[in-house]
Amino acid sequence: DTFVVIMAGGIGSRFWPFSRTNNPKQFHDVLGVGSSMLQMTVNRFRNICPPENIYVVTNADYRDLVKEQLPHLTQNQILCEPIGRNTAPAIAYASYKISQINPNATLVVAPADHVILKEEAFVQIIQEAVAAAEKEDILLTLGITPSRPDTGYGYIQFIEEGKHLKKVKTFTEKPNLELAQMFLESGDFVWNSGIFIWNVKSILHAFRQYLGEIAEIFEEGLLYLNKPQEEEFINRAYSHCRNISIDYGIMEKADNVFVLLSDFGWSDLGTWNSLYSIGNKDNAGNVIDGDVLLYDTRNCIIKTPQERLVVINGLENFIVAEYDNVLMICPKDEEQRVKDFVADVKSKK
Ligand code: GDD
Ligand code: MG
Repeated sequence: DTFVVIMAGGIGSRFWPFSRTNNPKQFHDVLGVGSSMLQMTVNRFRNICPPENIYVVTNADYRDLVKEQLPHLTQNQILCEPIGRNTAPAIAYASYKISQINPNATLVVAPADHVILKEEAFVQIIQEAVAAAEKEDILLTLGITPSRPDTGYGYIQFIEEGKHLKKVKTFTEKPNLELAQMFLESGDFVWNSGIFIWNVKSILHAFRQYLGEIAEIFEEGLLYLNKPQEEEFINRAYSHCRNISIDYGIMEKADNVFVLLSDFGWSDLGTWNSLYSIGNKDNAGNVIDGDVLLYDTRNCIIKTPQERLVVINGLENFIVAEYDNVLMICPKDEEQRVKDFVADVKSKK
């Protein structure tokens, strides 16, 4: 059987002030379409597996938000982490839990904050991936043709063979700009989409091999999973878990990684510029979500509350973002500083 694990525990700090620790971006209607990123993600899998096979891993602080947005999920389908330890522990938790329900499950692991424009193509590639991962001991990821030397992604070099499915030669998570530039120019690399498909046996095997101490922690409490003692065990387990992503912890190291080259209108809405690049632009290149009156203003992204009229004169290439009690105005090409702003705001309090 196929199970879907949705990772929804990140805080999306590059998307501040829209994304906040108490209400991160995956719970927002970022695209202004009437559903949150999380709801859209779950919806995308409706033809992949029955709704009772969809699990969401999130922080305990977001339990109520998830319940509210996905009222058809049962308590047992919402996995709550006491602290964020990045994606490796989140995936370990979900995988061990599902292995107790179905030891032959095939898992699709997906982030809750991606935009996918071509839904049909997406479903097709997931089905192809599930068929491949069901039978073999492989760790499969979906690869995306890169368009810029973005340092926020994993870069995958593959061996030219077969049609779609290729064996991965190297996996480099978040390279520096110089390397990313080289990877892009060589034409041999694709981006890791962060959507993974594997048999639960394969991923547990990989945990034992590459993140043995995390495997041990969860194996010790295997009997408590799906039982009343689960929460107590998980709280204890996480206090011993190191903080590491699946990309650094397993994907960079494993030798049975494969990539399925895909094209389904993917983007990771991780930053203001990524939202700008997919947004609808007016004649002057502005992406607007809010009530605005603009003069001589070009190539800006403006996201402000509907109840506030925003008047701007003579602004170019800026982010203007207001949410809750914060207004941020920042040049588009300096958005990497957003993380510093967040840190400064936190230390000011
Ligand atoms: N439950 C849980 N717990 N979820 C988490 C945690 C956590 O501690 N940390 C992050 N997540 C969720 C995020 O909400 C997001 O949906 C997903 O896991 C991926 O985490 P990100 O923090 O967004 O990762 P990234 O974007 O820096 O990098 C990953 O995705 C890229 C593509 O978007 C990597 O897999 C890269 O290799 C990849 O290119
Ligand atoms: Mg991301």
